[in-house]
Amino acid sequence: MRIPLLIDTDPGQDDAIAILLTLGSEKLDLKALTVTSGNVGLAKCVNNAQRLLELVGRTDVPVYSGADRPLVNPPVHLEGVFGEDGLAGGESLPTPSVKPQAMHAADALIEFYSQPSDMLLAPIAPMTNIALALQKNPTIAKNIPGLVIMGGCPYPEPLRGEMGNIGIPGSPHRAEYNFAVDPHAAALVLESGIRNIHMIGLNVTRKVLYGEDMDRDLRKIGNKAAIAIANILSTVGEEDDQDYATLKKSPSDPVRAIHDAVALAYAEDPSIFTTADVLVSVPATGDRAGQSIIGDEGVPMRVAVEADNKRFSELLLHNISRL
Ligand code: BDR
Ligand code: CA
Repeated sequence: MRIPLLIDTDPGQDDAIAILLTLGSEKLDLKALTVTSGNVGLAKCVNNAQRLLELVGRTDVPVYSGADRPLVNPPVHLEGVFGEDGLAGGESLPTPSVKPQAMHAADALIEFYSQPSDMLLAPIAPMTNIALALQKNPTIAKNIPGLVIMGGCPYPEPLRGEMGNIGIPGSPHRAEYNFAVDPHAAALVLESGIRNIHMIGLNVTRKVLYGEDMDRDLRKIGNKAAIAIANILSTVGEEDDQDYATLKKSPSDPVRAIHDAVALAYAEDPSIFTTADVLVSVPATGDRAGQSIIGDEGVPMRVAVEADNKRFSELLLHNISRL
């Protein structure tokens, strides 16, 4: 049986490959996208989600527009990483032919989870929409069958041995973007009582990289989705270009992380990963706001530790070839 799935997203170049990987899956059944402000502003993220669905003829998947800023903190966008519109390299994607749903994403989440549900929730963005839904109706927590989150960094990430990819304002520490941008939402969601939480953090998503080999294999597949996603992912922003410079196999190697795709690969086939069952706390405020700290107390969850890169690439290419 296929796994019904809802993705909460802020596309975003790596969100784009995550969404396409899901749409090409034999196992995952994408039921809806809820969209939040994140990598770029809300309207751009919504438009990007719709352009991707349009590209592969899946405008039947409803898109809900949600939060236009984090719960408390000011928004932090990453145009320098993903381009002005969030999908640099995706200029030839089609214009959406349908409108987003009228309902706010948080209300849609409340409706989807008003009864016990088997629809897995995969947040790959700041978790503001989910937090808003839980604030409005905390009882939905028990109806969510599980979370597969791209977020956090429970162990040092491999590039620089740090605990995240952005600085925590007013602090010498770093945290992973999705948690750092809305730490209040991350804390609220993780402490809401939702069970069966899986965290795919930066510590593992920075080990499963895109690069010239995958770029070549995608172009060899040659369908619309493969070419579009290769064009998007090979348009590497300056920041990533510098961050991953030492890992390039050749000067033109577009090596970079594709964080969100790693989380969706986990949702499809967790056996690709090794994991640890730990207790994690996420401070909402203070100089460690948004960090995911393993300790003797906190929320029980399963965190990804390592991934089999070869099996990840095979899954990704297989799914994209089916679009
Ligand atoms: C996460 O932050 C965003 O910029 C990416 O889309 C991904 O969800 C990685 O830290
Ligand atoms: Ca994202």
